Amino acid sequence: MTQEADVTQGPLTTEAGAPVADNQNSETAGVGGPVLVQDQLLLEKLAHFNRERIPERVVHARGAGAYGTFTVTADVTRYTRAAFLSEVGKETETFLRFSTVAGNLGAADAVRDPRGFALKFYTEEGNYDLVGNNTPVFFIKDAIKFPDFIHTQKRDPYTGSQEADNVWDFWGLSPESTHQVTWLFGDRGIPASYRHMNGYGSHTYQWNNEAGEVFWVKYHFKTDQGIKSLTQAEADRLAGEDPDSHQRDLRESIERGEYPSWTVQVQIMPAAEAAAYRFNPFDLTKVWPHEDYPPIEIGRLELNRNPENIFAEVEQSVFSPAHFVPGIGPSPDKMLQGRLFAYGDAHRYRVGINAGQLPVNRPHATEARTHSRDGHLYDGRHQGAKNYEPNSFGGPFQTDRPLWQPSADFTAGTGDHEAPAHAEDDDFVQAGNLYRLMSEDEKGRLIGNLAGFIAKVSRDDIAERAISNFRRADGHFGKRLEAAVQALRG
Ligand code: HEM
Repeated sequence: MTQEADVTQGPLTTEAGAPVADNQNSETAGVGGPVLVQDQLLLEKLAHFNRERIPERVVHARGAGAYGTFTVTADVTRYTRAAFLSEVGKETETFLRFSTVAGNLGAADAVRDPRGFALKFYTEEGNYDLVGNNTPVFFIKDAIKFPDFIHTQKRDPYTGSQEADNVWDFWGLSPESTHQVTWLFGDRGIPASYRHMNGYGSHTYQWNNEAGEVFWVKYHFKTDQGIKSLTQAEADRLAGEDPDSHQRDLRESIERGEYPSWTVQVQIMPAAEAAAYRFNPFDLTKVWPHEDYPPIEIGRLELNRNPENIFAEVEQSVFSPAHFVPGIGPSPDKMLQGRLFAYGDAHRYRVGINAGQLPVNRPHATEARTHSRDGHLYDGRHQGAKNYEPNSFGGPFQTDRPLWQPSADFTAGTGDHEAPAHAEDDDFVQAGNLYRLMSEDEKGRLIGNLAGFIAKVSRDDIAERAISNFRRADGHFGKRLEAAVQALRG
């Protein structure tokens, strides 16, 4: 977004464009007298200032963004008909917003928390948003638990602070969180910067090809800068010394021409293999082990342009997991299904019904052609065109081709069903595998990080329930953690 030259130079004006004579002294009735209501400049400035903020994101409030380029490096046309993936060498403009999850807008960057990795591809078939994290899994597997989960991460309604009791009470009572929590308290739990971490689509998504064949995919963005993380002690210091460390690092590296990049990979599962797979392939608390579905390199993502105005382009940016393009669609993952509603709803509240028309959000390689009209800050872009369809005036028309293939195989009636169980599904097996993969040193740091936090809870039963989940993941893990917590609690 470039500023027009005539708004940054020349005489100062009011919002209506009239020249301003004095921007230092408000108008009074005589020298030393009261201020006059006829000083419209004063009133306009105070009123505009009062309305500068919009609601911060209810999660992921703290973040930084940059524009970039996605380049296809492998032929994936047998898996998806998405136009932006149609040719090796093809480039698509992108915008990526990184974030932390729990902190408010002004929170420090160097904290133990997942990092958001929200990526918008401005494709010629519309914007495709992949709203992921720097972790391949998540804490819960059903959207109905998300508001409760986030309440435990944010400020307690009585104390106004994040409370160890709430965090560990919820995690202890939600054993499906054990895998993600083991990940979060390990070495990758505090990235050194946004550049030195991977990104993941996390959910399973549908790809479909020209012939209508369906594949389930998981996205991986592997950092080309190498993984670098902070220890808890390093992070605690940095959070105090430079609260904006991640944001600054991203902006300055792009200003220096050191463009961060990620190698993009996908794991691909033919649809017919899903039902008999050893894990539920749509369970967000599980990975697909690489020996089952090896990641295949498909592209490269580079960030190479800073936003010019943080509010306009980062604060007002909106990303939705429901923004698909032809050839890509959702899976039946119950978390993803909930997210398909939540984001658009948040955008309508936070930015407004015309959020999609803002420069950062609107399609860049095509046009949005809808029959929706009006609402706050509608810019009249459709002029006098008809606002209904079908019509006889040559307006935009439907294509009759869905973006994704229909799901099949629903045999049961409606109900509050758990997702189907697969042979090796349980809440602990992959957490245990992750623990056993760690070096002795990393295991030690993991135990120390967990114990330091669990030791802060006020009730023994909450601490014990939290520890018991890790015990079920790996007996040795549980034993060491119990001893470490006891040593701290005395
Ligand atoms: C059912 C579960 C979830 C719900 C209901 C939910 C809801 C939300 C909402 C309401 C926002 C704020 C959006 C805005 O104001 O623009 C948000 C932001 C975000 N969420 Fe989720 N979320 C869920 C799970 C997840 C998961 C599993 C991931 C990652 C795999 C994720 C990644 C993000 C990211 C990266 C953002 C920030 C987007 C941005 O930069 O604007 N969320 N989420």
